[in-house]
Amino acid sequence: MTEPFTVAIDGPAASGKGTISRAVAERFGLAHLDTGLLYRAVGAKMLLGVDPIEAAQNLMAEDLKAPDLRGAAAADAASKVAVIPELRAALVDFQRAFARRAGGAVLDGRDIGTVICPEAEVKLFVTASPEVRAHRRYLELIAKGEETTEDAVLADVVARDARDRERATAPLRAAADAVFLDTSHMDIDSAIAAAARAVEAKRSERG
Ligand code: CDP
Repeated sequence: MTEPFTVAIDGPAASGKGTISRAVAERFGLAHLDTGLLYRAVGAKMLLGVDPIEAAQNLMAEDLKAPDLRGAAAADAASKVAVIPELRAALVDFQRAFARRAGGAVLDGRDIGTVICPEAEVKLFVTASPEVRAHRRYLELIAKGEETTEDAVLADVVARDARDRERATAPLRAAADAVFLDTSHMDIDSAIAAAARAVEAKRSERG
C-alpha cells in the first residue's frame, strides 16, 4: 500500500490508546506516532525553564528520548502547555505529514480525528472509566519505579481530562464519525481485536 491510510486513535488519559495503537500499527505494517510524546517533551522542556512555544517550534527527534517523559510530572506539564494555541499550531505540520505519509500511519492523541487529520480513513475514540484508567496508569507508574498512590493517580487523571476537554483549542472530543471503544471491561487483547476489526473493515472497503 503506497497511498496514505490514516488510523486516528483519540481518547482520555490512560485509556489504552497507546497500547492499541502500537499493536494496530504492527499488525497492519503502519508507522506509529504517539502525539502525546510531543506535548510531554515540550512540557518537560518547560519544567527545565525553556519557553514552551519556542520549545515546540524547535522540537527535535532527540527531545522525544528525554528521560522520564512517561512519568506523571511530564504528563501534567504536557496538559498545561497543550492549552496554548501557538504551541499546538507549531506541531500541526509535522503531525499532518506523518498522518498522510505513503504506506499509512496510526496516530494517537486527543485531536487527531478532529483537527490533525479529519480525513482519516479510520477514527477510534478509546475510553474507560476514570477508576479503571487510574488503576492501569498506577500499575504502569509503579512498574517504572515512580512512588505514588492510586488516589493520587486518579486525581491527576481527572484533572488532566478536565483541562483537555475544556480548553478552547482542539479540546478532547470524539469526531462525529469515530467508532467508540469502551475498554472498561475489556482485556487488552479484546480491545486490540476490536480496533483491528475497525481497521480491517476500512481496508477491505478499499480493496
Ligand atoms: O498517555 P496519556 O493518555 O496519559 O497521555 P498522552 O497521550 O501522552 O498526552 C499527555 C497530554 O498531552 C494530554 O493530557 C494532553 O493535554 C496533551 N495532548 C494533546 O493535547 N493533544 C494530543 N494530540 C496529545 C496529547
